[in-house]
Amino acid sequence: MNPTRHILVTSALPYANGALHLGHLLEAIQTDIWVRFQKMRGHRCTYVCASDAHGTPIMLRARKDGISPEALIEAMSREFERDYADFLVRFDNFHTTHSTENKTLVEGIFSALDTAGHIQARTIRQAYDTQEQMFLPDRFVRGECPVCGTADQYGDSCEACGSTYSPADLINARSALSGTPPVERDSEHLFFRLGQFDAMLREWADSGTLDDGVRRKLNEWFEAGLQDWDITRDAPYFGFEVPGHPGKFFYVWLDAPVGYMASFLQLCERHPELDFDAYWRRGSETELYHFIGKDIMYFHALFWPAVLHGAGYRVPDAVFAHGMLNVNGEKMSKSRGTFIKARTYLEHLDPEYLRYYFASKLGPGVDDIDLSLDDFIQKVNSDLVGKLVNIASRCAGFVHRLADGRLAADLAEPALHAAIADAVGPLAEAYEGRRYGHAMREIMALADQANQYIDLHKPWKLAKEPGNEATVQAVCTQGLNAFRSLTAYLKPVLPGLAARAEAFLQIPELTWEDAGRPLLDHRIGAFKPLLQRVDPKTVAAMLDDSRENVSKAAAPEPAAAPGTGDTETETAQITIDDFLRVDLRVARIVSAERVDGADKLLRLELDVGSGDAERTVFSGIRSAYEPDALTGRLTVVVANLRPRKMRFGVSEGMVLAAGPGGRDIFLLAPDSGATPGMRVT
Ligand code: MSP
Ligand code: ZN
Repeated sequence: MNPTRHILVTSALPYANGALHLGHLLEAIQTDIWVRFQKMRGHRCTYVCASDAHGTPIMLRARKDGISPEALIEAMSREFERDYADFLVRFDNFHTTHSTENKTLVEGIFSALDTAGHIQARTIRQAYDTQEQMFLPDRFVRGECPVCGTADQYGDSCEACGSTYSPADLINARSALSGTPPVERDSEHLFFRLGQFDAMLREWADSGTLDDGVRRKLNEWFEAGLQDWDITRDAPYFGFEVPGHPGKFFYVWLDAPVGYMASFLQLCERHPELDFDAYWRRGSETELYHFIGKDIMYFHALFWPAVLHGAGYRVPDAVFAHGMLNVNGEKMSKSRGTFIKARTYLEHLDPEYLRYYFASKLGPGVDDIDLSLDDFIQKVNSDLVGKLVNIASRCAGFVHRLADGRLAADLAEPALHAAIADAVGPLAEAYEGRRYGHAMREIMALADQANQYIDLHKPWKLAKEPGNEATVQAVCTQGLNAFRSLTAYLKPVLPGLAARAEAFLQIPELTWEDAGRPLLDHRIGAFKPLLQRVDPKTVAAMLDDSRENVSKAAAPEPAAAPGTGDTETETAQITIDDFLRVDLRVARIVSAERVDGADKLLRLELDVGSGDAERTVFSGIRSAYEPDALTGRLTVVVANLRPRKMRFGVSEGMVLAAGPGGRDIFLLAPDSGATPGMRVT
């Protein structure tokens, strides 16, 4: 056995302003498999994560929800922890970047960088919203593209022609917050002098531990020249104030990766045997790996090692970047129902299906990964149920019926066992190198061999003739041993199934080495189903739900915020015929009341005219209206929307409201002359 390694592993910290979706889970599952594999091999492997709590979008989202940013991130963090846990992602610690540990570490790092001459103050001009009294991040300025003229583009780039520019170049620029034209204003910012780390980063890139994809990217950036990095933002900003610079805050991307350290530090406080310095001090013998998506490589492969090095810490051994998740061959799309939230998936399907499917598609490269739902159903049913579980379900019954639940004392077909046991080294290498897809194919090929062995000997046929008890026991012992070894190999991917298999086989927790050691002369327990087949109807229901999630809020969302982790910005077009199918009617609000436990919702009773019964509609307009102020007012509803069961009751329609969100939502004026039931065209 190799000497024990001490390894610290992270997944990127999800932004605390939106729910987790399957893209986040691709990363967490990839990391968790690797960590579980290392732990199974007896290494000391620690896996930490946190919620990424700072920045303008989180500040604005909290404001819109009428809660403090602290309350928002607390709620989001709890939700993240539940979602990850339910996908069997097992962190050693989950913290938040808005923590005392992080504040202390960031301040220490900043001061070390400053002392070493890596920080420089510089005045920049930036768009400023005079109404909201705040500087606007590029993506909060919108206007016409200066190159092609397309309307409603972000301040940094055009989605139509791909040009990049600065917000000041936009034609008819408007603040996405107030709608007013922004002005240009000067502000002093602090810059991290990345250029000073060129040699150090080149050396790190050539140290031999990075994947080709990451190295190639780094070389491109070296070629282009390293730009200094603006690490401060002006108030109002949700983050940590820079010591000695009142009104300036650390940019979220400076303190976010420090959150890895902070989460580990919090774990050390609970586990005195873990030594923070032994993992982070320069020259430490421990290993450090960051799993990330390729979209955030610049931050992890340039800024982060430079910041660590500049502040006297060690650098990561590697940054493992994966590609983006697509669903059914396209970018996840809210309108197509393929923007699947972690929770929506869990409401319908077993997390281990997805763990296996992702494993079967994952490799060390940065290629995008496609979740094709037909392929998903096919692969899970054919590999896990049809191949793996099938071995056990075909053998267990006979061992009980003919051998009193006992496995034979030796192996009848050592060659089959050897074929499986010999894979122990290559499979370990495959996991270590994140070639999970390769590992899954090898494991399934071995499962095929085991099934062929059983097909050949046909225990079901032998069992019919008296006198064959010992042969049937021998065949099934062989089969169950194959099942046990393959389950050990799959345990990093399928920990739940492995636990059920351990209970059924009545064995202690499977270790990696168990795969090579036969289980003989041993009493097994009763067979219980280990995994259900995926029902295509359930997958369809999940997609339906994902589609419905989108139309949930009646109040319009504020303009898309940057860096939300939300990959979808498009709006699907509908035809005039689609539009004509929408039954829009004037309704009178008979009563409006708050909904316990839902900050944003009001329960409205609506009179839709023509003698129809009153309808209950839940509407996300509480931020704009006191319930009393709504009674008697007129609004427009979508009257033919299929009733939707929500957590608080059934909603029988949708109230249309226009406005930028927050406090400004416009319903119909009371004196507009409209009457309930009137069709709106
Ligand atoms: N908060 C930053 C990370 C800070 S790490 C110090 C962030 N957050 S995120 O929520 O947008 O993304 C978190 C991780 O999920 C990133 O590694 C990102 O690449 C990954 N993914 C987000 N959407 C994804 C897909 N559609 N597909 C695969 N991974 C994706 O970035
Ligand atoms: Zn353009």
